Amino acid sequence: MNTSLTVQAAVLDAPGGLLSLQTLELEAPRDHEIRVRVVASGVCHTDIAVMGRPFPVDRPIVLGHEGAGVVESVGRAVTKVRPGDRVVMSYNFCGACPSCLARAPSYCHYFFGSNFLGQRADGSTALSRQDGPVRHHFFGQSSFATHCLCTERNVVKVPDSVPDALFEILGPLGCGMQTGAGAIVNVLRPGLGESVVVFGTGAVGLAGIMAAHAIGAGPVIAVDRVRSRLDLALEIGATHTLLADGQTDLAAEIRKICPHGANVSLDTTAVSSVLRQAIDCLGPLGRCGFVGGAPLGSTLEVDVRDMMLHGKSLRGIVEGDSNADVFIPELIRMQAQGRFPFEKLVRRYPLSEIQAAIDDSRAGRTIKPVVMMPG
Ligand SMILES: NC(=O)c1ccc[n+]([C@@H]2O[C@H](COP(=O)([O-])OP(=O)(O)OC[C@H]3O[C@@H](n4cnc5c(N)ncnc54)[C@H](O)[C@@H]3O)[C@@H](O)[C@H]2O)c1
Ligand SMILES: [Zn+2]
Ligand SMILES: [Zn+2]
Repeated sequence: MNTSLTVQAAVLDAPGGLLSLQTLELEAPRDHEIRVRVVASGVCHTDIAVMGRPFPVDRPIVLGHEGAGVVESVGRAVTKVRPGDRVVMSYNFCGACPSCLARAPSYCHYFFGSNFLGQRADGSTALSRQDGPVRHHFFGQSSFATHCLCTERNVVKVPDSVPDALFEILGPLGCGMQTGAGAIVNVLRPGLGESVVVFGTGAVGLAGIMAAHAIGAGPVIAVDRVRSRLDLALEIGATHTLLADGQTDLAAEIRKICPHGANVSLDTTAVSSVLRQAIDCLGPLGRCGFVGGAPLGSTLEVDVRDMMLHGKSLRGIVEGDSNADVFIPELIRMQAQGRFPFEKLVRRYPLSEIQAAIDDSRAGRTIKPVVMMPG
């Protein structure tokens, strides 16, 4: 029988505050909802950004949006998954607006409300504690918890062929990995032998590098301020690395590798001056994509004449334009073939050490923390 459940979750109580482990009550799934026993959850830079700056999100809230787990119970209207199914959760969308109907759900007209507010469309939340409601439904999941509710729209069944050791780190495919890989494969689409420059080699940038290498693009140039990340980039598909140390003339170095300018660039740093470099390094008909969650009000100055005369294009990208039901199984197949070794980015932490996972990510020590739920 579907009843409410006592769960453990990492709760954010105040802006800029630390997460604390608390015992909460999770409602039983409604007709269209699915209760998942979370096995593990990736930590995405977006979770950290929401923690760190004033954000129009009510607190207390449970964050986390890269969850993998096992379906425990389903509402009466759910047909897509059954109890016992292993799933990955991805971002949420409304399913009915013009973008969703046009199969572009990451540009859902209600993306912000569906993912950041920590509430259902009717304003309710499924989590509570003694002193009142706790925000849930962050990216349709709030996966920093032992259990959560999601819906058919943002859940993807994991193929039976996937071993458990891999299954438990699949959550990041639901955001960071599909964002970087999808930006390259679905949006910027470098052709065989076309050059790609990726600015920022965190989880998203490295996913882009693996994808660019996998589809035969090259040279693939990785740019970052952290040397160890560049070393990993070389291991998983970059052909060249450039250290953004403030002294290297990046534009000149890129021109040495791509004399006519790059075909494709991807900025993942969320720094406007870096995005400008990503546009400037392009050659004629070059395509620049950017995914970084820049601070509210960030602006960018571009050289209009250069962009026009060289036919350059600039595209903001959300979630790699990924249709998770299609793209996540593709990434799983690529991983099995050794062409998308995202496991090399992962470091596991117990839920009790989630704050250390976040601190290590912030400090650049860990690229993709994955928090393991107890049991
Ligand atoms: N658009 C989307 O759908 C989407 C999805 C997931 C993440 N994001 C955003 O994408 C961004 C990247 O996420 P991530 O998890 O890879 O973060 P991350 O912090 O792990 O990676 C960012 C990298 O950029 C590097 N960097 C920062 N400033 C730099 C500079 N001036 N020059 C060169 N390198 C620099 C950092 O050293 C780091 O390696 C974040 O802003 C995140 O919020 C967006
Ligand atoms: Zn929509
Ligand atoms: Zn994310």
